[in-house]
Amino acid sequence: MDRAEDGRTRLFSGIQPTGEIHLGNYLGAVRRWVELQRDHFGIFSVVDLHALTLPWDPARLRDQVVDTTALLLAAGIDPERSVLFAQSEVPAHAELTWVLTCLARMGELRRMIQFKEKSRGAGESVGAGVLTYPVLQAADVLLYRAAGVPVGEDQRQHIELMRDLAERFNASFGPVFVVPEAWVGEAGARIMALDDPTEKMSKSSPRPGSKILVTDPPDVLARKIRSAVTDSGRDVRAGADKPALTNLLTIYSVVEGVTVTELERRFAGRGYSDFKAALAEAVIEFLRPVRERYEVLVADRARIEDVLAAGARRAAAMAEETMVDVWAATGLGRRRPAYVAPVPELG
Ligand code: AMP
Ligand code: TRP
Repeated sequence: MDRAEDGRTRLFSGIQPTGEIHLGNYLGAVRRWVELQRDHFGIFSVVDLHALTLPWDPARLRDQVVDTTALLLAAGIDPERSVLFAQSEVPAHAELTWVLTCLARMGELRRMIQFKEKSRGAGESVGAGVLTYPVLQAADVLLYRAAGVPVGEDQRQHIELMRDLAERFNASFGPVFVVPEAWVGEAGARIMALDDPTEKMSKSSPRPGSKILVTDPPDVLARKIRSAVTDSGRDVRAGADKPALTNLLTIYSVVEGVTVTELERRFAGRGYSDFKAALAEAVIEFLRPVRERYEVLVADRARIEDVLAAGARRAAAMAEETMVDVWAATGLGRRRPAYVAPVPELG
């Protein structure tokens, strides 16, 4: 065990580098990682291999990894206390994925909601990676024997699958993996799109008005909130008949740390436009420090690359401990000590 780990419970979570980080990511995941790293041992990855499941731009991918890392640092992930790295820099993720793919079943992968959504209409030409993506995600977590996986609500099913894979492996080959649990927060675990409250706020949405980006300047942010859809009537109230207001009130309540009931009381009789103006103000102030730190950090690319290099070294060493056991348990044999050592300089 890493000495810096100090007996803290291990957590793992990941975020994709493609598409900018939005308020849903921030409230459902990143902000919680920052809180949890105080009392737990956090391992956080920018999962660039996951980004290859949908068409991507090779000229931009690494920049997107660096930008996402800068945002995580700006949000408060502390690379001294937690491990922060890019997934593609630790080869064990791809290796363990293959072993787990051979244990996974077509039926269980086809049942994944994200597979159903992303493959809709594509028929037989849907990429195989869209199907096997949750196995890569399982490898991410199982490699580090993490006990908890802090994620938003949308990831529950993927965590169930990784639990099944861990149990199946352990039952066949011996107790190599820790069976992880999803840690889904209460508030902010599912933020909906501003322009359609039946859909989650999503990186992959092409509609800029659907999401608040953590990096949006105040005027853009205010405009997006002003144009957010509302429900019929004019009461500022949450409820099943008011999906849009429920979402806006949820955002407000998480950002301000007050209950929805308290907000309903505060805005009683005041109408939507007053409410939206106050909400915009609250979100702007909430995100301001993160955006300002981000702008400073992102200008120093070399420093971000250093953070990623150090993170990859720590992650690779931790992952290798598990891979030694995986190779032995499955009969693949002994992992050579030189396996992760750097290639010697040519003399
Ligand atoms: P992704 O954008 O798919 O890379 O997701 C990164 C993290 O953000 C995961 O833990 C997701 O569960 C979380 N997340 C994504 N969208 C939302 C949302 N609309 N509301 C809450 N959490 C979300
Ligand atoms: N699939 C996750 C998402 O789309 C991102 C992710 C990849 C992840 N690997 C992970 C999350 C491991 C938690 C743990 O949001």
